[in-house]
Amino acid sequence: MKNIFEFAEACLHRTDIDEKLALTHQAWQLLQSQRLSLDSDRPVLPIVNVKFPDRPQLLAPRHMPQRKLTNPGGVIAFFHAIAHVEFVAIYLAWDILYRFRGLPDQFYQDWLRVADEEAQHFALIRAHLQSMHTDYGDLPAHSGLWEHATDTADNILARLAMVPRCMEARGLDVTPAIIEKFKKLGDDTSVALLTRILTDEVGHVELGSYWFKFVCRQQGYEPEAKYRELIREYYKGGKPKGPFNREMRIIAGFSNAELDWLEN
Ligand SMILES: [Fe+2]
Ligand SMILES: [Fe+2]
Repeated sequence: MKNIFEFAEACLHRTDIDEKLALTHQAWQLLQSQRLSLDSDRPVLPIVNVKFPDRPQLLAPRHMPQRKLTNPGGVIAFFHAIAHVEFVAIYLAWDILYRFRGLPDQFYQDWLRVADEEAQHFALIRAHLQSMHTDYGDLPAHSGLWEHATDTADNILARLAMVPRCMEARGLDVTPAIIEKFKKLGDDTSVALLTRILTDEVGHVELGSYWFKFVCRQQGYEPEAKYRELIREYYKGGKPKGPFNREMRIIAGFSNAELDWLEN
């Protein structure tokens, strides 16, 4: 394979986890050595064709077991949930570059880098789970994450608003407090893993903000008004709930006005 959309198609429609990780790294390596074609002549398959592995079993959030970090089972359940977030994040990065064509080359290069970082996050978390005698797929997982992709499959601005600028931005709000909990528990491995991921995620949200504003300008929209409009239209429950990590969200391209609107 030598074409980014051929890699994307394979990663979105094949279910073998190790193959997906290997293809993602291979595509990123080819891009860095300028051997990856960005020619977009392959058709885009409908989003219903995207395939996930048989395991983990996917459950509605209300059916997910409760977890507490103060017992080992809770720590395992927590990292299994994070592994699932990272696994779906690999799909989300591939899907945004696969489904939305005709953007500058940089768009495809940026999201391929994100796919590769998500694959690294997933591999790190999976190894951490394995060190606790659990593998990804052993526990059920949250069924809701991919819905943000299917809901926005025909609207690049809605995708950018809902995935990097909503779902991934939420990670910036909640992760620092979780890192503090693991610090208190003296679990340095978990602290290091989550800190590494948090640093990369600021970059993903920042890219989301950059491309959101870029496409808004291209389509003649005022970005802040368009963001509010899309959140109202696509976010179930009206508006994301805080508290928001203003400091990190500002670094990641949110304006004070956007944060004020989210908070009020
Ligand atoms: Fe990630
Ligand atoms: Fe991410």
